[in-house]
Amino acid sequence: CGIIGILGNEPAAPRLVDALKRLEYRGYDSAGIATIDASGKMDRRRAPGKLNNLDEAIAADPLAGNQGIGHTRWATHGLPTVGNAHPHVSGPVAVVHNGIIENFRELRQELEAEGHQFETETDTETIAHLIASNLKKGMGEVEAVKAGVARLHGAFALALLFEGRSDLLVGARKGSPLAIGVGEGEMFLGSDALAVAPFTNRVIYLEEGDVCVLSHESYEIFDRKDKPVERAVSIVQGAGAAAEKGNYRHFMQKEIFEQPDSTGRTIGAYTNILRQTVELPGEGADAIDWSEVKYLYMIACGTAHFATRVAEYWFEQCAGLPVKTDIASEFRYREPALAKEGGLALFVSQSGETADTLAALRYCKEQGLKTAAVVNVPTSSIAREADLVLPTLAGPEIGVASTKAFTAQLAALAAVAISAGRAREQISRDAEIRLVRALTELPRLMSTTLQLDERIAELSRDIAKASDVIYLGRGVHYPIALEGALKLKEVSYIHAEGYASGELKHGPIALIDEETPVVFVAPFDGLFDKSLSNLQEVAARRGEVVLISDAAGVRAAGETPASRIELPDCDPFIAPILYSLPIQMLAYHVAVEKGTDVDQPRNLAKSVTVE
Ligand code: G6P
Repeated sequence: CGIIGILGNEPAAPRLVDALKRLEYRGYDSAGIATIDASGKMDRRRAPGKLNNLDEAIAADPLAGNQGIGHTRWATHGLPTVGNAHPHVSGPVAVVHNGIIENFRELRQELEAEGHQFETETDTETIAHLIASNLKKGMGEVEAVKAGVARLHGAFALALLFEGRSDLLVGARKGSPLAIGVGEGEMFLGSDALAVAPFTNRVIYLEEGDVCVLSHESYEIFDRKDKPVERAVSIVQGAGAAAEKGNYRHFMQKEIFEQPDSTGRTIGAYTNILRQTVELPGEGADAIDWSEVKYLYMIACGTAHFATRVAEYWFEQCAGLPVKTDIASEFRYREPALAKEGGLALFVSQSGETADTLAALRYCKEQGLKTAAVVNVPTSSIAREADLVLPTLAGPEIGVASTKAFTAQLAALAAVAISAGRAREQISRDAEIRLVRALTELPRLMSTTLQLDERIAELSRDIAKASDVIYLGRGVHYPIALEGALKLKEVSYIHAEGYASGELKHGPIALIDEETPVVFVAPFDGLFDKSLSNLQEVAARRGEVVLISDAAGVRAAGETPASRIELPDCDPFIAPILYSLPIQMLAYHVAVEKGTDVDQPRNLAKSVTVE
């Protein structure tokens, strides 16, 4: 969920909605705002679904006032209805909340016993009642918030407004990020710097347990022990306006087509082309002595997790490094046995805000491990908390289904694997030159591959009729098959599964019939013959085979596959990055064919900031 708060000098409603648009990546099930006018009167508007519904509700019934709070929701407790949308109100208190309050049922019982009437099933409403109850007991607003927050278990970020107090905005952070934007005679609160970007570039990131008290002219911050503290003001650059779609129909399509650029930028930042070597970007890049690393943990969620699954092969092959990859939500609760001596934990996240990944990072730090993070948003929580940041230079990714961030993650990880291989003396100078050259070839090969768009669009008409699709790949292409299936599920709502080709015979082959397309991601590499046998096994059972390969692969497969997509030849090292493109294009076109909401598919959020 995304939070914004404004104590401003101009009408708040349009600014709140504008900020919520930049926060929509955190969820878009429903949205709402509350404002306070000059006389201190509070009012709110809420709407289910996308932000334009809220826009319409406000246009039909405008809200006065220069101060307010707003929220865009990704439902955790209760359906995405108007009633469950934030802000939640009790008496003079209005609250917006990101996170989950774990003990809300007990608190609710207690408050109901006091006579509070609840309108919703949400955990957030409990916060409003709890603070209203403290006010009734005679506490001042700030005291009421501090006492309320002390009773909340779980992870949260809050912004609160009080009726009758048009110069007061209170924020609290525990587990979920929150930042203050410091303006000229104006003050802001936001889930991230992007939320407040057009209003100010001066941002203070709150720390765990902080409560902040804002007026138009000033701010005070209290730490977890209620001690007044100073926190550094950061100047944020370039978080400005949200990207435009330009000539493209969807952001996803635009972002797919941006990949020669976004990958090229990332590779440029990690390589020195003249010297044909890898040089990691940023300060402290030498913080990791790869020759000392004995065990690499790579932890992420969703698409970023699949990037780590590809990188696992690279780190093993180029650097001879034992690797364990894990899904953040599993890792953090498993009490993993970690190699504290020589263990390095690497986190991968586009947004840098995913709650499970952030929690896993904190866990590793507590355990005394060195941490590094591959992130696309340099101001994000994960970037700020990791020991070393390895940036991807994909630029803002708006489409909820990740495309260009994924290939940028792969490019960065490939470069890091080469660098580790060199430091560990696992690859020769010649091998390094070959691999760096292969990376620098990628943008050109990607541009050629994108020319297959029309061919893939054609093919997608057939796939759109299927109710299940299977993706198969071997070796480094196995995770690409997993990502292909995820991409299709996310945007087209067609059920899809990714498997290792060799695993087909151990179960999934039972699913094969003439209705089930099977997409093989199989360039003509050392494993192609094995894939070809699997492909024939599918064809023998009347499965509809789609082969994604290169000229040699297509030739070798002959007439067996029903459809063939032929990519340019490339070095096997970079093949998984190149082969990401056709599976993205396929998912995109199937979604368009099915008429889904491509950029904001149902039920998803770009960044899941709750666990
Ligand atoms: C969400 C998105 C996925 C994304 C995952 C991890 O579930 O819908 O597309 O891969 O979060 O996000 P991150 O920002 O950490 O890469």
